[in-house]
Parts: sequence; structure tokens; C-alpha cells
Amino acid sequence: MTPYYEHAGITIFCADCRDMLLHVSADVVVTDPPYGIDYDGNSRRFTRKASPYWSNVDNSKVSDRGRVRGDTIAFDPSPWLSRPCVLWGANHYADQLPVSAGWLVWDKRRGAEDMADKGWPLSEAELAWTNVRGSVRVFRYLWSGLLRDGEKGDYFHPTQKPIALMRWCLGFVPDGAILDPFMGSGTTLVAAKQLGRKAIGIEIEERYAEIAARRLSQEVLPFEREEQRTEIQSSLLEEVAQGTSSLQGKAVRGVRR
Ligand SMILES: C[S@@+](CC[C@H](N)C(=O)[O-])C[C@H]1O[C@@H](n2cnc3c(N)ncnc32)[C@H](O)[C@@H]1O
Repeated sequence: MTPYYEHAGITIFCADCRDMLLHVSADVVVTDPPYGIDYDGNSRRFTRKASPYWSNVDNSKVSDRGRVRGDTIAFDPSPWLSRPCVLWGANHYADQLPVSAGWLVWDKRRGAEDMADKGWPLSEAELAWTNVRGSVRVFRYLWSGLLRDGEKGDYFHPTQKPIALMRWCLGFVPDGAILDPFMGSGTTLVAAKQLGRKAIGIEIEERYAEIAARRLSQEVLPFEREEQRTEIQSSLLEEVAQGTSSLQGKAVRGVRR
């Protein structure tokens, strides 16, 4: 198959990765697949719930980042396990994986105050299964709504991971070409490129293959910059962190390209 993008050791295919198994040659797999949870990127779903942090939010100001292709069916990791591997979201399909002590933890709140008992509906951490480690490691990087330690305003994909996180986990895998068969907006490939590593990404949706190719070409046009964005989540998180919650979301003017 002809690559969608190929430059300086980075290759992208726009295809169903299950059809590509015999056609790509890679040494390690690092990926963030559809978890099989039917993730809803529409933050409006929270606004009228009982949570004090969302009940007063104007839901016309909250973004809808859509859904993830393939996320309505259970994820089968078996085709990828023959190589050294890092699989994000693996707590959702751990029953399909061998026992491993080498889980990676991404603390998305960067150790801030526990919010679970305060009605915060989203995960405070994400987990990756690996077969390359014998112990648990933790990466702390704030990434919650618009409150981020980096890549502020770069909204490419509903379940986008930070480049810094992917650079960190690439540090655990052996040398060689990296395969991300569920590439999304290409974050794994951007991290690989920054580390001078060869990488192959596969993405079934052409809009994300296009975004990934642009990110790798450094022609960055985040698709969501055409949409109004708000600081509702960050306002609420800051209020909670300071213990001064006013329970009022503060909408700000969206960023437009
Ligand atoms: C969880 S997202 C990855 C997001 C990525 N971590 C990022 O930072 O942008 C999973 C991606 O896998 C893609 N996908 C789903 N099924 C696929 C398949 N069979 N082959 C290739 N890509 C697939 C989805 O379209 C989605 O973009």
C-alpha cells in the first residue's frame, strides 16, 4: 500500500490496521487504541448532572469533540502482543492481557487534590500495560480540559495524548522502529520524530491521517480552532485546587483561526 505520508523515517498509512498486519515491519508497538468504552467527547453530557462542578455551566459554551471510531466494540490486543509493547487504556481490556507488573501511570492532575469525592466526572489518571518493564512508573502531567502543562490550544483529537507523555513512554521500549496502529492525530509519531526514532502510524480515518501528516510537517492547523472553546473546566479545576469554588463556569471567547 502507498503511504499517506513518508519523510525522514516517519511513515503514515491511512488504512484499517487489521489489514496491514502482514505489510508493516516494526520492532515495538506503542499505541492508544479505542478502549471499547464508547467514549463521548461531548462535554455537554456533564453539564446538567448532579455534580456541583457542572450544574451551573452554560452548556452552549462547552465543546463537543466527537467520538472515537471503533470504540463501541471490545478491543482485542492479541495481534500486537508478540512485540515489546505499550498499550494505553489497558485497564479497560486487562482481561485480554497477560499479567504484568510493568504498568505505566499517567497522573493527569499532577498530584493535585483528589476530586473524585467532589463530583469531578472524568478520570484523574490513565494506565498503560507494558511487557517491557517489571515495575510501575508514574508520569505527572496536567491535562484536564483546557488546563494543560503544554500544547495549550492544540486540539487535534477527542482522545489526544500529550507529546511529553508519549516521549516518556518511548523511553521504556527497546531500540528499533515503532508502530502505532491506532495513531489518531499522530502524537506517538511526533514524539518518535523528536527522539530521532523511526516510526509507522496507521489511522483509519483520513481526517486524522491528514492532521498527523500536517503535525509531522509542522503545518499545524488544529481542527478545533474553528470552534469556540471555553475555560470552563480549567476555571473549575483551579477553584477546586484553591478550595474557593464559586460553582460558576467562566466562558471566554473562542480562539479562531
Ligand atoms: C484513542 S484514538 C488515538 C488518539 C491518539 N493517541 C492521539 O493522540 O491523537 C484511536 C484512533 O484509532 C483509530 N482507529 C480505530 N480503529 C482503527 C483501525 N481498525 N485501524 C486504524 N485506526 C483505527 C480511530 O479512528 C482513532 O483515531
